[in-house]
Amino acid sequence: MTTHSSMPGHDIQAIIFERGVLRLLDQRLLPARTDWLTLDRSDEVARAIADLVVRGAPAIGIAAAYGAVIAAAQDGDDPEAWERRLEQLEQARPTAVNLAWALARMRRAAKRHGSPDPTMLEAEARGIHAEDVAANQAMAAAGSACIDAGSGVLTHCNTGALATGGIGTALGVVAAAYRAGKIRRIFAGETRPWLQGARLTAWELARMDMPFKVVIEGAAAALMASGQVQWVITGADRIAANGDVANKIGTCSLAVIARHYGVRVMVVAPSSTVDPDTPSGQDIAIEQRDPGEIWRAAGLDHTPPGFDAWNPVFDITPATLVDCIVTEAGVHHPPYRFAARDSIIGTP
Ligand code: MRU
Repeated sequence: MTTHSSMPGHDIQAIIFERGVLRLLDQRLLPARTDWLTLDRSDEVARAIADLVVRGAPAIGIAAAYGAVIAAAQDGDDPEAWERRLEQLEQARPTAVNLAWALARMRRAAKRHGSPDPTMLEAEARGIHAEDVAANQAMAAAGSACIDAGSGVLTHCNTGALATGGIGTALGVVAAAYRAGKIRRIFAGETRPWLQGARLTAWELARMDMPFKVVIEGAAAALMASGQVQWVITGADRIAANGDVANKIGTCSLAVIARHYGVRVMVVAPSSTVDPDTPSGQDIAIEQRDPGEIWRAAGLDHTPPGFDAWNPVFDITPATLVDCIVTEAGVHHPPYRFAARDSIIGTP
């Protein structure tokens, strides 16, 4: 099992792979219930990713990698059938590039080995998981170093242990800076309609004994105008070569408001989220989900007759609104040019 940081509350393991079976903490039910799903078929893993049992860009990449191991146990002697299972995993969610990135790594490992061997693939998946844990730690240190003592931060969606293999991306930075005594106020945006902030980030912060306040989406401008926050700190689902950032819907609004009020914006993501092959945000597919999610968030069981909604679950924040991008290699400043993966890892 992957080891987590020993920081208080950083004992959250939402993805466990043991004896050929994937166990996922069901994030749809938190914080009311901590139920686990046990999956031993790759189509179940694809469904769990699509249904947000597991969510967050790095976490879905890790889950998909273990899904590819399970697919090899099911169909490893038939590489074409294995590939079909990988395609099903890849189609589960379109925006976070970590999913396609992890599966591309699994394909390359199978090619090197000569076949999709489950034992070899499990080692590759565990490597992806362990690298994310290490990347989280490096980003927490690098991002925390940018924050001045006495700061207030606003974070969006959930970017902590639930969304990654380790301590998180943006939330890892917040936790590290808090432990370093630099952060005086933490605000978690509720993140409609799925409430990743109000349900999941709040759950993680409470477990870490870190004081925080949840704010509704509409409070962002008032909060920034009040002078209580100096940084907006978010994760990312895909970062284009020019530094445009796809992240949870509402991120762009926060960045626009932040620029108006002189609040800085930090995006924290491992290099597996950076996609040098996507030139700009315009080229990123934005996932649209069932409008029913909006009515359920409004407390309605069914879509009322005649009601309609538009439910994109990510938006694009232009690179010009992002003050810095933190990867495991360090802190990148504008103008961003992620020309190749080497330029992310090697030259911050
Ligand atoms: O729809 P979700 O919950 O998967 O969206 C998650 C986000 O947008 C996160 O900010 C992003 O994946 C980074 S998680 C470290």
